[in-house]
Amino acid sequence: MSEHKMDADYGPSALDRGVQGLLGKGLDRTDGIAKVTGAAVYAAEQRPKGKLAYGYAVTATIAVGTVKSVDTTAAISMPGVIHIVSDDPRLPSESPNIGAEMAPRFDGVVESYGQIIALVLAESFEQARAAALAVAVEYVPQKGQFDTIAEVAAAKPPHEGAMLPDVVVGDVDAAMASADVSHDATYTTPYQVHAAMEPHAAVAEWDGDDLTLYGSIQIMRAARPLLAKSLEIDIARVRMISPFIGGGFGGKIGGPEIVLAAIAAQAIGRPVKVALTRQQLFHSIFGRSDTHQRIRLAATADGKLTGIAQDSIVSQKVGVSFFEPVALGALSLYAGAARSFTTRVVRLNITRAGAVRAPGEAVGMMALETAMDEMAEKLGLDPIAFRKLNEPEVDPMRGVPFSTRRLVDCLDDGAKRFGWEKRVPTPGAVREGGWLIGMGMATAARVNFLANSDARVRLTPDGMAEVETDMTDIGTGTYTILAQIAGEMLGLPMERVRVFLGDSNHPDGAGSGGSFGAASSGSAVQLACDDLVAELARRMDAKAEDMTLKDGHAIAGNRRVPITDLIGDEAIEAMGVLRPGKNSRAYSQGTHGAQFAEVAVNAVTGEVRVRRMLGVFDCGRILNAKTARSQALGGMIWGLGYALHEHAVLDQRSGSYVNRDLGEYHIPVNADVPQIEAYFIEEVDHHASPVGAKGIGELGISGAGAAITNAIYNACGVRVRDWPMTLDQILPGLPPV
Ligand code: MOS
Repeated sequence: MSEHKMDADYGPSALDRGVQGLLGKGLDRTDGIAKVTGAAVYAAEQRPKGKLAYGYAVTATIAVGTVKSVDTTAAISMPGVIHIVSDDPRLPSESPNIGAEMAPRFDGVVESYGQIIALVLAESFEQARAAALAVAVEYVPQKGQFDTIAEVAAAKPPHEGAMLPDVVVGDVDAAMASADVSHDATYTTPYQVHAAMEPHAAVAEWDGDDLTLYGSIQIMRAARPLLAKSLEIDIARVRMISPFIGGGFGGKIGGPEIVLAAIAAQAIGRPVKVALTRQQLFHSIFGRSDTHQRIRLAATADGKLTGIAQDSIVSQKVGVSFFEPVALGALSLYAGAARSFTTRVVRLNITRAGAVRAPGEAVGMMALETAMDEMAEKLGLDPIAFRKLNEPEVDPMRGVPFSTRRLVDCLDDGAKRFGWEKRVPTPGAVREGGWLIGMGMATAARVNFLANSDARVRLTPDGMAEVETDMTDIGTGTYTILAQIAGEMLGLPMERVRVFLGDSNHPDGAGSGGSFGAASSGSAVQLACDDLVAELARRMDAKAEDMTLKDGHAIAGNRRVPITDLIGDEAIEAMGVLRPGKNSRAYSQGTHGAQFAEVAVNAVTGEVRVRRMLGVFDCGRILNAKTARSQALGGMIWGLGYALHEHAVLDQRSGSYVNRDLGEYHIPVNADVPQIEAYFIEEVDHHASPVGAKGIGELGISGAGAAITNAIYNACGVRVRDWPMTLDQILPGLPPV
């Protein structure tokens, strides 16, 4: 076993030599063919051994009150209906948040619209759905609170142990009062949902006391104990399988469907599938809260920030502790002696808020970077020059060095690639026929995490490597990058590495979340391989550092030996164990980037067409140029959605979202997605992880919406601070035609 705790750098390894030439290459996904041909099996497609029954959730049609009675008489006699689960005390009411020990339980009290109150089981999905709609629920409704700003007087500061406690350094009020130039404005973002392509689904099958749960799960090491605890059974009885996931974005951490399927399958002694509908996801799974962000910037006349504040109001369901950590990206981003990053949480009777891709930065950086654009204009500075003037040498919050930070290089490189020098600073100055053309930019920033991760790697007598971990691939490319790392370490071509993921029988992997998956699980594979390399070297009678592994051969001195000769008749295997450590405090670790956008705003109708987006990012080592680029592009497209489209509209009478489907909750489609380019400034970050990579999945969204917002201002002179930027906000401010 090779274990490394990141209390210190791991140091160079075979990866740095790159003899096999796999690492970093833009190789196709190893699971690509399976996915496009339908051979990849997703949760709802799993076929257990027994005859499947289908579950459909009965959900609350009020937001606050108590359930007086659940009348199942009509439903139970409908065609195909097998059973109705309504009095199991373990019945989950909704999705738990990340870090929860168990799923929240339905106890007769409704605290948000769409809470689950029963589950109907039938021979087909349609029969279950029809019967679920026939379950008569009687409520004693109460009046609810649904308006964040109306309830702001009761807002509370962050709870003990919050991910983002209030941070106040110096006196921002004083800095604002004495500033040569200052900016003070409030920015708002609406409720948003994950909108993963694959809705939540689970299939549960019991064999005596042993449960097999097929799910769509981002992090097994979190979801499996949560399921066991929710069911009140020993975790050893739970096997969880999740080989393919159609996007997660923070929402697939073990939703109510896994508990529903398990208790239902137990009740009827048959396997059960529970697939939540798209509409149910809006209320059964948490989303992102609204944010109301007051941003203050104070600067000297020559553009040096003396104060920076991002103080936010967010909402959350009553009784839930998570909140959107709005200022996470701002904390260590810019210089400025006086600093204030606070959050006040308003409790409402709404669907709970939870982690959605880049919790904090996704919406926080949209507002901060819009404010920075406004401030640059007040200072008469180019927006890039203003940011470079405030680039700190060490972490401005904690005084520790950055592990790596290439923000300035990203800004410079992006400006060159994008053609920033062609931008005309005066708004509304560039016209092409009926269109006003503008350019905007913004900084991207995201915190970097590492997570516990274990992996086993085995060299088999036929000269193959097998990687096993319960790490998941949520569409990010994990299968591929882990094969690249193992192949690079062991000198094997891609086709001689097999990667097995998403099965809790494998060693506990990091799982996919917080952008920590690739660096954490990749490092665990690397560590296991280091052990195997040492063993091969011993058998080769050479020092590991004098031996080269390439194309299935070990080379030392003037000897070149097939590794199958060294392996012999019995497989060799090793465990890699990665643990985060002091490096995460000793260095300020983040990822950075520069976002650019060019838009056309119709001079008459106000229609916005994004014409170009370009991002340059700094994420440490790039493990696969193609999958990395995909992650960056996906994030940038979300940024476009946040700028122009996404808005879960909360009905102030019922506490429900009125646009709960993808026809009405608008996300960008192909026609909205322009020419998008993503590039990387690569610097191996040995302080961050053994493999030298940092998080990548959530960085692309950071700042992308602000670049578009700033481009719209540059195009037509309309400054929107309330997203999404719908036509009604742009139209009144357009210059006379
Ligand atoms: Mo993420 S929002 O931690 O999947």
